[in-house]
Amino acid sequence: MAGQAPLCRAFYEQAWCIRADHLHEMIAAGETNIPRLLRRLEAFERKFRVMASSEGPRFERTAWPKEMEVGPAGVPLLRPSSFRGNGALVPFHASDNVANFIVDYIDEAGPFDAIVELGCGYGRNLFDIYYGGGPQNCRYYGGELTASGVAAGSEIAALDPAMKAKFFSFDYLDPVLDIVPAERALVFTVHSIEQVCQIDAQLFAVIAGAGSHVDCVHFEPFGFQLAELGPATREHRSQAIENSWNLNFAAALQEAQQKHNLRISCVVTETSLPLDPHNPTSLAIWHSGEKAA
Ligand SMILES: C[S@@+](CC[C@H](N)C(=O)[O-])C[C@H]1O[C@@H](n2cnc3c(N)ncnc32)[C@H](O)[C@@H]1O
Repeated sequence: MAGQAPLCRAFYEQAWCIRADHLHEMIAAGETNIPRLLRRLEAFERKFRVMASSEGPRFERTAWPKEMEVGPAGVPLLRPSSFRGNGALVPFHASDNVANFIVDYIDEAGPFDAIVELGCGYGRNLFDIYYGGGPQNCRYYGGELTASGVAAGSEIAALDPAMKAKFFSFDYLDPVLDIVPAERALVFTVHSIEQVCQIDAQLFAVIAGAGSHVDCVHFEPFGFQLAELGPATREHRSQAIENSWNLNFAAALQEAQQKHNLRISCVVTETSLPLDPHNPTSLAIWHSGEKAA
């Protein structure tokens, strides 16, 4: 049965709210360019992090641990990460690029008439896809649990109506995707199923119902559920249990494959350079509808 820890349900309401305030200030100061807006928020967050306080969360200048020597750009030159189960020290500015992956995937497997992210926060991945060369002639949808995420995404999207982006309330515990009436839909998730400790296999059937043909790409930290690649995988498992993060994505997808006739075309574990060394991203892609045959 599906289930989620109360803290995981509550955490992002405030986390997106404080970022929404920051975005709102930049928009009020005259910023109208969405990529600039998002890159400025990212630049700010490279040096400031959200800290809890009695009056709610607030941004504070990051205090780097002693061993992370700060370089000329005001951030460390290197940061700890992990790759394929082992710890790795990588350039501070090295990062995964989900949006480029999706843009390249669309060029191979598209066209799609709807691109949908579930658990999208304020929609940064959707905006990065569109401004990173994603299709112009399709609709973009962001489904998100928190009201603050939906509101922030909608405020950003209003700056460029040409993108045709829409944000809506979505809950993995009671998933409904009626808002996405598509012929061919590309649905993706990025570390959002992570937040739900147990999902139902039925979730995949609901996603498959988003269109006559659906391709679904998951960038989720499920590697430890399938194979232990090294010490970082073991740490990942412990951290997932401790934080009440997802423990059954792989099993639920396998169950759905049989029950709902999905075709799984790709599963690769721990191929990211995560910011949190003990929460590496893995990749799974599946298909439903005629294209699955
Ligand atoms: C780590 S953040 C990732 C956000 C976004 N995918 C990204 O990459 O920027 C996790 C997201 O999952 C959302 N989330 C948590 N529980 C959820 C649920 N039950 N249904 C839908 N989204 C949920 C959170 O509100 C948050 O936006």
